[in-house]
Amino acid sequence: MFIDVVLNPAEIAQLAHRDLSATTCVVFDVLRATSSMVTALAHGAAEIYPVCTIEEAWELKGRLPEAILAGERHGERIAGFELGNSPFEFRKDMGARPLITTTTNGTIALRACAHARQVLVGAILNIAALARQIRLDTPSALLIVCAGTGAEFALEDAAGAGILIHALATAELSDSAQAVRALSALYPNPLDALLVARNGRVLVGKGRTQEVEWCAQLSHYEVVPAMSSAVIRMLPR
Ligand code: MLT
Repeated sequence: MFIDVVLNPAEIAQLAHRDLSATTCVVFDVLRATSSMVTALAHGAAEIYPVCTIEEAWELKGRLPEAILAGERHGERIAGFELGNSPFEFRKDMGARPLITTTTNGTIALRACAHARQVLVGAILNIAALARQIRLDTPSALLIVCAGTGAEFALEDAAGAGILIHALATAELSDSAQAVRALSALYPNPLDALLVARNGRVLVGKGRTQEVEWCAQLSHYEVVPAMSSAVIRMLPR
């Protein structure tokens, strides 16, 4: 298995031109989009629709009136939406109601991989389950996509990618994959990476330290969410 890592949103924008037909993508937006999705599915959400814009979210809500609208801009809940993007908002039973979510980076990164052979949702929260699933499937190519922050690289996503590469143990690595593996070794406790990251510092500044701590829990959940036809569902265990 060859592992490559996309490190920033500029590279994500180029994915449309990349043949991913034999590639499994794992998308990390550790603070907080993919951590919130993993939390939601672990707490019984059945379906998540990640969309790129607020307009798309409202348009889809028109077709799925029972759905919950969730998401953020500048880290805050979008006006008129039921939920924001905090993992704590997704720890409740939503019954059978689907979730529609749009976030600044995470949902864009996910949708940019839609033409891949398989798209998995990655977080520090589900590393062990992801590694097991990837070893079981053994794709010839694994592309880890770090969603970033705005237009920039995000340390916490690279740390998550590196932890996953460590967990996979054997593979041929691109230079970016070697770099994130080495980077994650600098933070034996993932929380330390999240707390020095720009996103982590912003959340701490807003009094949301507990959310950062939540997202740093290594392999807390056994779920492997996968996106197919623009809908994220849990892969059967
Ligand atoms: C994003 O998708 O850019 C993030 O998840 C932002 C956030 O922390 O809500």
